[in-house]
Amino acid sequence: VIDIRKLYAQTGAFTYDPGFTSTASCDSTITFIDGDKGELLHRGYPIDQLASKSHFLEVCYLLLYGELPTGAQLEDFENRVTNHTMLHEQMQNFFRGFRRDAHPMAVMVGVVGAMSAFYHDSTDISDPWQREVASIRLIAKMPTIAAWAYKYHVGQPFIYPRNDLDYASNFLRMCFAVPAEEYVVNPILSRAMDRIFTLHADHEQNASTSTVRLASSSGANPFACIAAGIACLWGPAHGGANQACLEMLKEIGTPDRIPEFIARAKDKNDPYRLMGFGHRVYKNFDPRAKVMKQSADEVLDLLGVENNPVLQVAKELEAAALADPYFSDKKLFPNVDFYSGIILEAMGFPTSMFTPIFAVARTVGWISQWKEQISDPQLKIGRPRQLYLGNTLRDYTDIENR
Ligand code: ACO
Repeated sequence: VIDIRKLYAQTGAFTYDPGFTSTASCDSTITFIDGDKGELLHRGYPIDQLASKSHFLEVCYLLLYGELPTGAQLEDFENRVTNHTMLHEQMQNFFRGFRRDAHPMAVMVGVVGAMSAFYHDSTDISDPWQREVASIRLIAKMPTIAAWAYKYHVGQPFIYPRNDLDYASNFLRMCFAVPAEEYVVNPILSRAMDRIFTLHADHEQNASTSTVRLASSSGANPFACIAAGIACLWGPAHGGANQACLEMLKEIGTPDRIPEFIARAKDKNDPYRLMGFGHRVYKNFDPRAKVMKQSADEVLDLLGVENNPVLQVAKELEAAALADPYFSDKKLFPNVDFYSGIILEAMGFPTSMFTPIFAVARTVGWISQWKEQISDPQLKIGRPRQLYLGNTLRDYTDIENR
């Protein structure tokens, strides 16, 4: 029997790195993370500065084009995005083809993939103009798609985009307004929504972004690539973690039960983990979690739920875990998901909308990485190798002899 692992070792040029823990799949100039310091930079700018001084569409411009825009550039970019927020009227048929209780993520994967058919004048990736139009269309239409997936899910009429509103306010209105009733977006909620979008805009080569890059390496059109990213984001280990965290906080229920859950998380014989703690790259505070915590305070204060039991449990759980040597020794700190679910729930979103909102925000990151990749003249199709551990050569056995 041939020992295949030995054979691969003898060839000398083979790396085996499941989960890509130490293998760079590309070079990039978009986002930098220093996990030990807890630092996240977009095009060199720290995320906390962007979250406090900038806003989502400006960050989109920065990620897409590499520099902060001038006033005129920003105005032009915002106008271009605003011009594309409507969905082709015929796409409503596509939504209506889904079961009425379909998960909004299932609808998003389908509808975004279907954009390849509705907007085929922007699928030729060799044409820079078409690439640009596809990028703007995706950023502009994603909030409409997510909001309509939600409306369909709850059985309410679709609300059309209003282009006099900013990106976050328009999204909130499309989700929560109902026809014939006035809906005024609260500026504090709109700001919190914008921050959630900003904090999730890009995070270098995470699973969904790597999926987009792998799909695009074959020359697939941008709508198909982004649909692949949405499908990957859907998993509970990626986009679904804030939902899991919120469910954990509710299960804990009252602060007196925190020690019991911490003890479970520390128990080697129990696979239980504290949701919203730990990160593959950050071995320090996730810088996004700090901003998210501040937003949670603002939103809950506004909504008059500062004594919200979930937030109280969250705050005390965070303090208890940070004071526990188990967590500090393993460098387990709260991540971005620890507070985002609390904010979204307080705003009125059901947990099924948490991942679609993440998808709206991450679309710009996916597109920026897609653009960077297809502009690379050395672009190669992504084709990982494998460590084969199956049978070696053997002869086919006829069915009567098995
Ligand atoms: N609670 C308790 N112990 C933990 C936790 C946790 N949340 N996270 C890691 N550990 C422990 C592990 O048991 C392991 O202990 P050991 O060395 O004694 O075996 C050690 O810390 C290292 O854990 P790994 O799983 O090897 O670390 P990895 O980097 O692969 O995992 C991950 C990172 C998946 C995020 C992990 O910390 C986790 O499961 N956290 C909870 C889920 C979560 O919040 N996910 C959201 C991530 S952020 C995002 O995706 C947007």
